[in-house]
Amino acid sequence: MAEQNGIYKCNVCGNIVSVLDAHAGTLVCCGQPMQLLTPKTSKDEGREKHVPVIEIKGKKVTVKVGSVPHPMLDSHYIMLVQLVKGNEIVNGKRLKPGDKPEAVFTVEDTAGIKARDLCNIHGLWISD
Ligand SMILES: [Fe+2]
Repeated sequence: MAEQNGIYKCNVCGNIVSVLDAHAGTLVCCGQPMQLLTPKTSKDEGREKHVPVIEIKGKKVTVKVGSVPHPMLDSHYIMLVQLVKGNEIVNGKRLKPGDKPEAVFTVEDTAGIKARDLCNIHGLWISD
């Protein structure tokens, strides 16, 4: 069973997929099950440059990765920033090397909102 809005990675070829509509099947790539990325938190090594920092002003939500800005090099960068509420994705933005490691969103209801980001090397991270 795939996880709704889960992000999976193939540990052979590096394919990364996001589940839009979860069903019973197992996600397979290169002949083996894909790995569900479990978000790391402020308790994990590397938190300073990876745990997203959320700033809310009215409906404007700014997400910076992280408390020390993450590098945005061709070889090491933040690929994705998303706002999540429980298991739902509220909004998201793809980033590329050279961008600032941040994203700005407009959100009607910010209650219970968290942010998560995906580093191409260090995986998935979520705010407290
Ligand atoms: Fe990283």
